[in-house]
Amino acid sequence: METGTPIAIKKAIQERCWIDSAAYQTLYRQSITDSVGFWRSQAERIDWFREPTQIRDVSFHPDDVHIHWFQDGELNATYNCIDRHLEKNGDGIALLWEPDQPHQQRREIRYRELHEQVCRLANTLTRLGVNKGDRVMLYMPMIPEAVFAMLACARIGAIHSVVFAGFSPDALAGRIADCQARLVITADAGRRAGKQVPLKANVDAALEKPGTDCVDTVLVVEHLGVAPDWHNGRDRRYSEEMAASSTHCPAVAMNAEDPLFILYTSGSTGKPKGVLHTTGGYLVYAALTHQVAFDYHPGQVYWCTADVGWITGHTYLVYGPLANGATCVMFEGVPNYPNDQRVGDIIDRYQVNILYTAPTAIRALMAGGDHCCQGSHRDSLRLLATAGEPINPAAWQWFHDVVGKGQAAVVDTWWQTETGGIMICPLPGAIEAKPGAATRPFFGVQPALLDNEGHILTGAAEGNLVIGDSWPGQARTLWGDHERFVQTYFSTFPGYYCTGDGARRDADGDYWITGRVDDVINVSGHRMGTAEVESALVAHPKVCEAAVVGYPHQLKGQGIYVYVTLNAGTDSNEALCEELRLWVRQEIGPIATPDLIHFTVDLPKTRSGKIMRRILRKVAANEHDSLGDISTLADPAVVASLVETRMNR
Ligand code: WTA
Repeated sequence: METGTPIAIKKAIQERCWIDSAAYQTLYRQSITDSVGFWRSQAERIDWFREPTQIRDVSFHPDDVHIHWFQDGELNATYNCIDRHLEKNGDGIALLWEPDQPHQQRREIRYRELHEQVCRLANTLTRLGVNKGDRVMLYMPMIPEAVFAMLACARIGAIHSVVFAGFSPDALAGRIADCQARLVITADAGRRAGKQVPLKANVDAALEKPGTDCVDTVLVVEHLGVAPDWHNGRDRRYSEEMAASSTHCPAVAMNAEDPLFILYTSGSTGKPKGVLHTTGGYLVYAALTHQVAFDYHPGQVYWCTADVGWITGHTYLVYGPLANGATCVMFEGVPNYPNDQRVGDIIDRYQVNILYTAPTAIRALMAGGDHCCQGSHRDSLRLLATAGEPINPAAWQWFHDVVGKGQAAVVDTWWQTETGGIMICPLPGAIEAKPGAATRPFFGVQPALLDNEGHILTGAAEGNLVIGDSWPGQARTLWGDHERFVQTYFSTFPGYYCTGDGARRDADGDYWITGRVDDVINVSGHRMGTAEVESALVAHPKVCEAAVVGYPHQLKGQGIYVYVTLNAGTDSNEALCEELRLWVRQEIGPIATPDLIHFTVDLPKTRSGKIMRRILRKVAANEHDSLGDISTLADPAVVASLVETRMNR
């Protein structure tokens, strides 16, 4: 599909949008030509303990990369997400919690109660010895306590790092060791689609691994009431600790550039990167983007399905919506459990106006047919949004026509863990959506396309997507490794932030994200480094060498295709295949489970011994007719045999 059909947003919706086309043009121009003025006025949406006078001090120059916004300002994120709403909206609902099991007790958390819980937990953390700047690891199910925990850290200036509860003990241990966390907050167990996840046991296993003796305390939420193993002296019961804590806890004044959180994400090398976000700029950007990209109006019910373990859960389940005083649905389970009607049921039950989800969830529902919408009305929906991976036009159309009954705008939002918030999207009311296109930059965002030599491409073109100037929500560094930050994002194309994504700009000037240009894959919207999966595989005693690539997968967007060579004397068979699958699940987590495993005696390599991934990607995608030049290979015959034995036919 070349440019796609513009979709007119329903008039009724357009009339109530914050931004129209003219306002977008004016504000966007101002955000670029007068960045200081634009962001100075946007900073006013936040309550500062001390107003910032220095708006920006940024440099993308590889010799001196630094990013500071609102540098002399002081604020507290939880004060903005809770306290400032109390007077007018203390009885307003902050969280509507929907449990995994539909028959289970639901929970409603009003802003007043959120305040009480967060204060108690903040006091608990302080009593347990957590100080400003200390790292606290969260390994939590999708329950309100996860939100309390993030905000409690922010209240006292501790830095939270949430690890997705689907990750393995190994993955958790690596992250704990990297940021030297003092305390871990977890639950006895989690539940997803009826299955129990032994979170506390996973924490116990993680804390046996090297590098984790920095942790002296584990705080355990009694969520399912299972009785996990207990380490006296180290483990603490959440309910007991909370009962012993006061509900009075002033929010600490933080500098705008004090760290708010670290979130680990995958890069093209093996070790996950600890992306660091700070307080002031992040919060301004989260609140602004949440308001205008979803056209959020006070009183609306907003549902973001993302897990708190991902950036979408941070910015658009917690910080953005709560800073705007929104009512958020938080769902513990998965969209098709116990049946395909679950999403429709939740929308009707809470009268959801805005739904933000991932293309992979949409495709999974779509695969089950339109009956997922039977039994629900969904007339409350005003806006549907997606993020995390490219949305194929067919899924876009189905989302728009069937789920939204053609009444709700669809907003495809492109952004990254490192960008902190939405960067390119069709702002509702202002920019015409096209199925599959991210369209236009958000305020302050200056996208550009470069060829591989770094030349800027003009007009309709396809190339590397880079960003020409800083925006307040941008990550400031990688935890403990500024060098790697500079190397990863600012050295390939000096003067630009390099996104790692490719994009196409059409004749109208709209951007279409084409996917990663590096060795990162996106499986069901989960970002993963192929190198991480490879290093897990080669740690298996029978594996000699492994190469991992993504391939097009109908439901997951990309699937994981693994090429493996075995140690001498080892036979490949179905049992070994299963063994390797299980191995990777244990090493990283279920989301990294290989879809296809291709045993081969050799891999295509250059004469200098470098694996030619381009060829492996083509074979995995079943595009072996267009392999390109293979003459530089040490042994071109390898390719024919790979094509012959390919798995994705
Ligand atoms: C991909 C998730 C196409 C992209 C918010 C990016 C997208 C990576 C979109 C970041 C979109 C995210 N269209 N691709 N709307 N949104 N991506 O850090 O490849 O988990 O670089 O952040 O997801 O994934 P991350």
